[in-house]
Amino acid sequence: MERLEAALEKAREKRREAGIDDRVVGKLESRPDRQDQPKSVWASLAEIKVSSRVARSSRITAISNSPMSSPYDLLRSRTLHNLIENGWKRLAITSPTVGCGKTTVAANLALSLSRQPDLKIALFDLDLRRPALHKVFAHKTASTLADVIEGKVAASDHFVRYGENLMIGLNAKPARNPSELLQSQRTKAFLQEFEEIYRPDIMIFDMPPMLMSDDYVGFMKNVDCGLLIGAADTTTATQLDLCEKELSELTNVLGVVLNKCRYSDSSTGYDYGYEY
Ligand SMILES: Nc1ncnc2c1ncn2[C@@H]1O[C@H](COP(=O)(O)OP(=O)(O)OP(=O)(O)O)[C@@H](O)[C@H]1O
Ligand SMILES: [Mg+2]
Repeated sequence: MERLEAALEKAREKRREAGIDDRVVGKLESRPDRQDQPKSVWASLAEIKVSSRVARSSRITAISNSPMSSPYDLLRSRTLHNLIENGWKRLAITSPTVGCGKTTVAANLALSLSRQPDLKIALFDLDLRRPALHKVFAHKTASTLADVIEGKVAASDHFVRYGENLMIGLNAKPARNPSELLQSQRTKAFLQEFEEIYRPDIMIFDMPPMLMSDDYVGFMKNVDCGLLIGAADTTTATQLDLCEKELSELTNVLGVVLNKCRYSDSSTGYDYGYEY
């Protein structure tokens, strides 16, 4: 009994270190779909490692707990709180134009969340025209998510695992029919089946930019909420307003992240350069 208490206290301590609210995690643990987590299906996925050189060059600072991970850890805590409070699981990350930092934020948010051992996170590269997550993780797969969605390759042969609790769907190359695929019934069915098998707590979708194509439009019906990323140096207030309005017509807007800020507000205690 004493050992059990000690183990529970250790888990609570880890959560406190990770900035996770115990009440929030408690709500998550009581979800009916979290019972009997399928450990073996996760364990059998091919595992990838990320060297510190790759982490540095890809700006994946949330890979370990450090002052550099603080902005993403803050984003994680707020995101997690909102997802759990609303009973949401599927989060799409998009931006008005290219290069705002969607992929970087998606990877870091997923990594930061995965440092919380109680959570199971699935990250998908759904920027099917210009996939980039494979570059961030410096891992090339033989197949694509389009192959998995179209039933040509099994998810278990395609998805890779980072650590115990983050699985990632990468793309070896762009898809031929991104817009049609993303709004198809096949994609909807694939996501349902994926959830049944892997039971992730949170699914994060790295999406294409909103003002460059209509790829995202048909897919948004599959998500619970969206996070809009703007780049401080290139995104205009008009673009952000326009996209926030458009996004809110398609799904719930979780928030807007202003990325690539040069200025940082030291009064927050974080030298992070993000507004949320
Ligand atoms: N906070 C930041 N500060 C400086 N550079 C950043 C920051 N976030 C991302 N970057 C860099 O900006 C570039 C674009 O980032 P990223 O690929 O994440 O954007 P994206 O919105 O996914 O782009 P795309 O629309 O092409 O998919 C990358 O070189 C990335 O390393
Ligand atoms: Mg990207």
